[in-house]
Amino acid sequence: MKSWLDFWNTPNAIFASRRHQLAHSAKVLSGVSRFVPTGGNAVVLDWGCGDAVAANELAQSCRTLLLFEPAETTRSRLLANYAGRPKIDILDEAALAAVASASVDLIVVNSVVQYLSRQQFVGALRLFHRLLKGDGKLLLGDIIEPDTPMLGHVTTFLRFAWQNGFFLAGVASLARNATSPYCQLRRSAGYACYRDTEILALLGDNGFVAERLPSNIAVSQLRRSYLARKRDAGA
Ligand SMILES: C[S@@+](CC[C@H](N)C(=O)[O-])C[C@H]1O[C@@H](n2cnc3c(N)ncnc32)[C@H](O)[C@@H]1O
Repeated sequence: MKSWLDFWNTPNAIFASRRHQLAHSAKVLSGVSRFVPTGGNAVVLDWGCGDAVAANELAQSCRTLLLFEPAETTRSRLLANYAGRPKIDILDEAALAAVASASVDLIVVNSVVQYLSRQQFVGALRLFHRLLKGDGKLLLGDIIEPDTPMLGHVTTFLRFAWQNGFFLAGVASLARNATSPYCQLRRSAGYACYRDTEILALLGDNGFVAERLPSNIAVSQLRRSYLARKRDAGA
């Protein structure tokens, strides 16, 4: 397995159990929901959405929820689960490229940036800048700082597992993961990690003004979230 996209395109055991997946999705849904413009008229893009198990709930507060997922196998599951839902559109690369400029109110990118090369991230930021309305917002979640101690990730995960009733499955998954393709790839390909100054500068270089949020929108408070607006907002 050479790339992170290969990894996401192959069956994986990234969630310890279904309960873990649901608890993760509920946490991200609650983190994202407060950034969806009120009134039920918003167009929201979830970029790198994975299985998007909370998509029905998120779509309730949107006019349209666009789900973009580059891994073909995941996209087939999205199509099986959501095709035909009136508010949900599942996009591949071509459909994403065809989305009209300045048509999206909120773009959510949660737990994806660590899997992108710098070039991929910059390409994505340019796309987001094109897609967002003048007053649109970009929400980046689960950004990892360099040198975050592994022990912190493990204890955060186990606390979450305990609180959400999948502790034993969580311990088993940690043991399994030590030799998993995920860990091997993490050692060979690595994670893209950003300090505050680096990610704020990169956003700035690509036409955004951004702030770090007081808390991460996802599970681990060792990770960070950022809210960005187009610098030329309203122009
Ligand atoms: C940890 S999952 C996060 C899924 C979802 N956003 C969530 O919060 O549960 C990482 C996701 O990043 C996606 N991904 C990996 N490489 C990508 C790329 N180059 N462009 C867009 N998405 C990518 C994967 O396909 C996968 O769905």
